[in-house]
Amino acid sequence: MSHQATVLNKAAHPFNKANLDALLNRRFFYAPAFEIYGGIAGLYDYGPPGSSLQANIIAEWRRHFIVEEHMLEVDTTIMTPAPVFETSGHVARFADWMVKDVKTGEVLRADHLIEGVLEARLKGDQEARGTQQDPSVVEDKDKKKRKKVKSTAIQLDDRIVAEYESVLAQIDNYTGIELGKLIRKYAILNPDTGNEVDDPVQFNLMFDSSIGPTGKQKGYLRPETAQGHFLNFARLLDFNNGRLPFASAQVGRSFRNEISPRAGLIRVREFTMAEIEHFVDPEDKSHVHFSEVKDVKLRLLPKDVQSSGKTDVVEMTVGESVAKGLVDNETLGYFLGRISLFLIKIEIHTSYGWIECVGCADRSAYDLTVHAKKTGAALVARVALPEPVFTEKEVPTFDKKALGKTFQKDSELVRAFVTDLPEEALVKIKNELASASLSSLILTIERRTLKQSSTKFGNSLPTSSEPSFGIGRILYALLEHSYWAREQDIQRGILSLPAVVAPTKVLIVPLSANDLLLPLVQQISAKFRRAGVFARVDDSSASIGKRYSRNDELGTPYGVTIDFATDLGALCFRERDTTDQRIGKIDEVVAVTTDLVKGAIQWAEACQRLPAYDGVQAVD
Ligand code: GLY
Repeated sequence: MSHQATVLNKAAHPFNKANLDALLNRRFFYAPAFEIYGGIAGLYDYGPPGSSLQANIIAEWRRHFIVEEHMLEVDTTIMTPAPVFETSGHVARFADWMVKDVKTGEVLRADHLIEGVLEARLKGDQEARGTQQDPSVVEDKDKKKRKKVKSTAIQLDDRIVAEYESVLAQIDNYTGIELGKLIRKYAILNPDTGNEVDDPVQFNLMFDSSIGPTGKQKGYLRPETAQGHFLNFARLLDFNNGRLPFASAQVGRSFRNEISPRAGLIRVREFTMAEIEHFVDPEDKSHVHFSEVKDVKLRLLPKDVQSSGKTDVVEMTVGESVAKGLVDNETLGYFLGRISLFLIKIEIHTSYGWIECVGCADRSAYDLTVHAKKTGAALVARVALPEPVFTEKEVPTFDKKALGKTFQKDSELVRAFVTDLPEEALVKIKNELASASLSSLILTIERRTLKQSSTKFGNSLPTSSEPSFGIGRILYALLEHSYWAREQDIQRGILSLPAVVAPTKVLIVPLSANDLLLPLVQQISAKFRRAGVFARVDDSSASIGKRYSRNDELGTPYGVTIDFATDLGALCFRERDTTDQRIGKIDEVVAVTTDLVKGAIQWAEACQRLPAYDGVQAVD
């Protein structure tokens, strides 16, 4: 579709977060959960448009990753026994640093406190210097309230500005002690009260629980879906006929007991994740489809730029980034390219600043190693050798009965000890047995030729690359990115959601409440239903213009108007962003809409198939 009109209009008004928030709340995209009980920070309910939008994003995600790449989908449990997270390291390390207001006891996340205060000081400095802020960056209400004591325009010296910028660029990397030192060094106070805060202490983000009635079996609500993939690795490998590489995928809920969430859908305590674990030979991280994404352009923040405290991004193709070593290997590069293609229409620089919507980690063999060590399960994979390898080896064989009789309960120890002896030791025993002309009843050692058709991966387990998507963050970023208002009506917003994810695809608008139009409305509805296109009827008494504009707020991309000409076979068609009106025969309008919704055609082709509506409703 041509978004030219959209782009022009979007540029006409600075982004207004308060208006977007009002729209999302009024039209029930989402709202605070337990609202009539006063709500709980970080918990949200999605209403009809928000739920459909989320379901459509997930459906597109499944098509783009699971279907396209034949991934193995799993749906694993949320409630998890404690030993799993003790082994994975989450019990010891899945934590943030919190500080308490020394007078009120209010709890704040230490890194967010520093970030908020330093950013506000820099902003005050910019105001004092008369530097223009990016008009698209507007603070949310909560943040504004939080920062009210900090936002005074003061001028900082250049050295301090550079220092603050460097701290902010590395804010995710500090230890608790370092955060405490920064709070003291920069005299950071609780901005809500102006009080001092105490030293940072660690707070584990997992919600704990107990499983069963005894209270003795401790459990946790999972903070990521990933462990469910690792624990089922052996079954998944078997399902994949023992072959690597393969990827598992899962969409599901996870839980994090965030310290003081105040950023809408960006920081929540219960959320939907979509995670992929791509298991690969650690000695061969090439990807068979790498060439398909090698020309995709990425904007990257190189490691050395990050550690120098700067935020200058470089643009290069996936192919270049792997060749230059900025991205470690083809598999990681492949997923960065695929993720970028999935998010191509989503600008994730939200009004909250840069937000991580997708993480793409190389988890190495860590998880499989710790779980295998703890449980003794064989979480290993073998690869077929190109040619079988034949080797000669001394092989001990035991007479089980005689072994048991002689060594009783130690039999297994003896068997394992002898079997693990090096080749020279076995040869020595074999010679001693022969020279002593003992014909051992227990043990014989023979030289045999062994055929090997597969091998383990060197000494290591498969490693996993992990693209991990926060669906709520993506959904929110998409809403911000899609929001704008027409020049003539700044209050009434429009969500230019792509048709593929829009909650409703077509609005059916009968011209009037005349009963004669009812059969036509039902007929057109049935046609869209049969075509698999989700349509809704707005037969309220509001004017046509009003009905269209309130559905623009819901992001409905297309509309059809039913009037008496429809009885003669003509249907008027409207496109949301341009408000362009076209006309065509009923079946052709339904077919064009279906093609647009499924992405089979672009707007230019739709215009060729449906002439512009000039007020004349007859069609040949
Ligand atoms: N599994 C990735 C994450 O928890 O963010």
